Amino acid sequence: MIIQIGNTQLNVEDHGSGSPLLLIHGFPLNLEMWRPQIEVLSRNNRIIAVDLRGHGQSPPTPGPYSMDLLADDCAAVLETLGVQGPAVICGLSMGGYISFAFYLRFPHLVSGLILAATRAGADTDQARAKREKAIAETELKGTQPVLDNMLPILMAPATYQEKPELVQSVDQILSKTSAKGVLSALQGMKARPDSTETLGQITVPTLIIHGLEDQIISLDESRIMHAGIQNSQLEIIPDAGHLPNLEQPNIFNRSVASFLIAL
Ligand code: MLT
Repeated sequence: MIIQIGNTQLNVEDHGSGSPLLLIHGFPLNLEMWRPQIEVLSRNNRIIAVDLRGHGQSPPTPGPYSMDLLADDCAAVLETLGVQGPAVICGLSMGGYISFAFYLRFPHLVSGLILAATRAGADTDQARAKREKAIAETELKGTQPVLDNMLPILMAPATYQEKPELVQSVDQILSKTSAKGVLSALQGMKARPDSTETLGQITVPTLIIHGLEDQIISLDESRIMHAGIQNSQLEIIPDAGHLPNLEQPNIFNRSVASFLIAL
């Protein structure tokens, strides 16, 4: 369903009942990436998933999309859907960057964090230069060059051999992102602050999930988050890359379900 947040329209899904879990997708994806989680976890929890502005079925707005702006959108989604009390916030990759911003801005709305395939650090100079290149390419040629660069590294090398249908459906999901969404999210991620200092301030239970074969974010990043967040646990998922929730949905769902039950 489309909901109105100020001047912005956001596509959201809201399934099940029980304690709420908000799912925030990565770049340049949309809430469809959470389909295996929505199906299974909504049996015991209220699962809310959002298409960030310019992604999936949420129309773009002028950018850049700072992580703070996207966190504000997520808080407004919870409020608009009438969520009472705090929720577990689960973000993958860019969704994780947004989760850090959400925690800093709305700690009273967070009962737990799930940080999947993400990192606390800001972009390095080299990463910023790559973003600049991607921004220039998108301005010139639209989304295709960025999507073509990302698709071959989003999953574990073996996933491309063993699960061609999954690769095809991820390709479909990527194709729904608007050029303005790609540009504005790249600008927002490039400017995002370093959240390393935030780690020591996080007091809610936190589940960190990392695919062992992640080609985009190294396992060291998850180890840093685990060391920095006092009440955290780290789940390393074998035979998965940057999208462990899609590559190994059963393991991912079991890990999240156990975390939710223990809260
Ligand atoms: C993502 O999956 O959200 C992106 O790879 C994050 C990034 O580009 O830093």
